[in-house]
Parts: sequence; structure tokens; C-alpha cells
Amino acid sequence: MKTLRALLSLFATILLLGTLGCQPTQTEVPQTAFPAPLVKKTYTDVIIGYAQLGAESEWRAANTTSIKETADQLGIELHFLDAQQNQDKQIEAVRKLIIQKVDLIGLSPIVETGWTEVFQEAKNAGIPILLVDRRASVQDDLYVTYLGSDFLEEGRNAARIMADLTGGKAKIVELVGTINSAPANDRYRGFREILVEYPDMEIIASETGDFTRARGREVMEKFLNQHGSEITAVYAHNDDMALGAITAIEAHGLRPGVDIKIVSVDAARGAFEAMIAGKLNATIECNPLLGPQFFETALKVINGETVPKWVPSEESIFFPYNAAEILPTRKY
Ligand code: AHR
Repeated sequence: MKTLRALLSLFATILLLGTLGCQPTQTEVPQTAFPAPLVKKTYTDVIIGYAQLGAESEWRAANTTSIKETADQLGIELHFLDAQQNQDKQIEAVRKLIIQKVDLIGLSPIVETGWTEVFQEAKNAGIPILLVDRRASVQDDLYVTYLGSDFLEEGRNAARIMADLTGGKAKIVELVGTINSAPANDRYRGFREILVEYPDMEIIASETGDFTRARGREVMEKFLNQHGSEITAVYAHNDDMALGAITAIEAHGLRPGVDIKIVSVDAARGAFEAMIAGKLNATIECNPLLGPQFFETALKVINGETVPKWVPSEESIFFPYNAAEILPTRKY
């Protein structure tokens, strides 16, 4: 299959040279390991595979909807598999998509490591891997591009906002996302990068809440039982865990957003509702509506066009003062 594609590509190049009557310069040659088809494909010609990591949050639900709805709108045949929060199942999903001979595989890796072997299998089968939402620690040539947020900057912004909210003096508890996932790693690191500038801001406890509301609540209960009113701030790696923490704080007889300042990431509708109720102090946007950009980039890759190695998402930060005005415009 790979040889056939390579031959077709060579044939196409010879045809092109014949038409142009000149030698193309290096920059005119698409910089991709995957040869362009003879005739450019359109959305209705391609089969796209997607190995989603699961359904752990409001964010993830919006991400899945965006991918499925965009495929429907564009008339794309989408093979969508859900790994239910399990890396082995996600690897198995990629293998199934390879067997199904899809034209490209989109993937939000549940954790950063452990992908080299299966990505190499996809590459050997001539199927490009496009990372959506989360990065994977693999060699650059094993994926075509990463489409998603700057998680490190999200972590830095969370710390900057927390410093503003607390006047640079706080006892912080941190609800970390899924262990070894790209957003948890980077939000953890980015937050600390800024915190070193604030000697009176201290992280007194940090534990994973696995990006879910239920775990966020459980871990916050534990923090409150251990540290009580010593806690003045919560940094949650996503809105779901912040919402879980809010429930725990109220059950403990404290006022979330007032007695304990809370900053989280995602900017999902639930966070806006909490800000309107005065229970959350800020949310940093992480855009899950990646469907349109994903399929546009996928088609370019399939057609042998050059794409940047990272297509960053455009994102903002939201605060309670205008949350009521903005909420009706939010799509997730
Ligand atoms: O990878 C993005 C993160 O995953 C979101 O912040 C979180 O809500 C989701 O589960």
C-alpha cells in the first residue's frame, strides 16, 4: 500500500514537472512524510478515525460533540471510538482504526507517554496521526501536527490571577488533572513557574481529582478535613473539579469564592453559572470546539499540504463581573 502510494506520488510529480516544464524548488515540495494523492480529495472522499480518550468532563462532552457534529455537517465518514479513560483501550482503538484503513487518525492522548509503538504502526501503515487537544511525548516524525491549547500558559495565567485575587498571600490547595496527562503536567508546571515570584503564596496540598467533579469533591473534602480554614485558595486544573470543590466547601460551612478564592480552567457553562453565583473567581478558557479546525487540518494533511507542527487555539480568561452577559453566548 505504502509502495503503491509512493509510486503514485512519483508519477504525480513527473506529471507536474511535465506540466510546469521546470524543476520545483525545495520549498514547493510539501514537507510531509505522507505522499499527496493524484487528485485532491474532498471531505466526502475521506474516512477519518478518531480515538477519543473518554467522557470525564463537561469539556470532553463538548469536544466530542464538536467533532461528531462537524463531521456530519461536512459529510465526512467518521469512525469514532471512545477509550473510556483507559490508555490500553485507546491504543486498541488506534489499532482498530489502522485495520479499518482510515485516511487519518485524530487522537487526544489520555496520558503523555507510551505512544511510540502504536504511532509507529500507524506510520508504517501510511496513516498520519493528528494530535487533538493533548500532546504525546513521541518523536516529531510520528505525528503530523498538534492542534490545541497552550496548557503551560494556562497554568501561568492561573497563578497570575490567583496572585491578584489574594494580594500575593495565600495558602493554596491544588486539584490536579489526570496524572501524566499533558494538561495536568503543564498546568502544574506553569502555575509554579509564576508562584516563585510570590514568596507568601504557598501550595499546602496537591492531589489528583482526575478531571472529574466527583473526585474534585472527594479530594477537596479531604483537604478541608486536613487543613480546615487554613485554606484560602483553590487552584483546580479544570472547571469540573472546581465545581466539585465548591460543593465540598459549602458542606464544610465555608463560602466558596469569598472565604476561599477559586481559579480553574476550561470556561465551561457550569463555571459561568458558578461565577454568576459568586462561587468561582475566574476561569481560564481551554477551547474544546476543535471539530472545524481538526477536519480542515486533516484534509490538508491527506492532500499532502504542509501544516504547522502546532496549531494553537485562541482563548480568553473570564471573570464574574460580566459572566451573566457572556453566558448566553457560550457554546459549551
Ligand atoms: O485536555 C483538556 C482537559 O481535559 C480539560 O481541561 C479537561 O476538562 C478535560 O478533561
